Amino acid sequence: LPLTYKLPSGDDIPTVALGTWKASSEDVGAAVKAALEAGYRHIDGAWVYGNEAAIGQALKEVEHHVPRESLFITSKLWNTFHNPDDVEATLDETLAHLQTNYLDLYLMHWPIAQTADFKVDWELTENPIRTWKKMEEMVRKGKVRNIGVSNFNIRRLQNLTASDITIRPAVNQVELSYWNPQPELVSWSKDNGILLEAYSPLGSDVLVGKTLRLPPVRKIAKKLKITPAQVIMSWHVQRGTVVLPKSVDGGRISENYQTDLFNELEAAATAHRPHRINDPSSHWGIDIFEDDKEDDFH
Ligand code: A2P
Repeated sequence: LPLTYKLPSGDDIPTVALGTWKASSEDVGAAVKAALEAGYRHIDGAWVYGNEAAIGQALKEVEHHVPRESLFITSKLWNTFHNPDDVEATLDETLAHLQTNYLDLYLMHWPIAQTADFKVDWELTENPIRTWKKMEEMVRKGKVRNIGVSNFNIRRLQNLTASDITIRPAVNQVELSYWNPQPELVSWSKDNGILLEAYSPLGSDVLVGKTLRLPPVRKIAKKLKITPAQVIMSWHVQRGTVVLPKSVDGGRISENYQTDLFNELEAAATAHRPHRINDPSSHWGIDIFEDDKEDDFH
């Protein structure tokens, strides 16, 4: 399986990254070091995870044998900083926390702009062009090498890419798992040259146990003499997406880095009714994904 994909900028993006959402500041440093030891060079973070300073500290401690240039570091612009006047300051804070002067990838974390008191800014949400232009400026300034989005559906991406933008989104980071495989988004993204990144690839903490016990997953694992988690990672890479497994355990981090070749899972994953795990729509007062509601999942 490929170890990297090519981005439109020409940069190589490693196919497997360490996910750091829900990793505490206490745990994340050791997780990052374990990941680098296992061979990972791609770390996926975000301002809102609140652990970027701990990640930066860990990277600093190993920089003599893992130089910055060998790493691919991603962070994300939080909803409350979509106002163009706020973008550079929050990016600078992320850079300071990570102790670096550039990011490899900066994503708009959600297609939702919020005011400081968490009300939806409808104008900036429906027309994110002004936020995007500021992100483009960060590329020109050398603070960011690639820009993209996260949690965008097809309509919102079409809306953004139909505007007068200079740099197209290189990636869209979305929830992709056995439970929410989004085949339509996968094929649309492929056709439109936008790389997908799979977050919660194991089904997140809520469904990981269930995922790893799935009969088709166990069957493939047995046949290939790999673990169920490795079957899942391999499936994502075979679908052509980056995969972002989160773990704070050295053994599991190392396990998740190994991928293998087969193609028997896609049909099973797309045969059942999809279930989205992460959807703050009701909490934020806006229908983020605009997809069918599925409440019959147990
Ligand atoms: P932990 O951090 O203790 O390893 P996802 O990547 O889909 O968000 O899933 C993350 C969840 O899956 C976390 O609860 C994580 O716990 C657990 N996890 C990660 N890798 C493995 C693995 N190889 N085997 C079992 N559980 C795992």
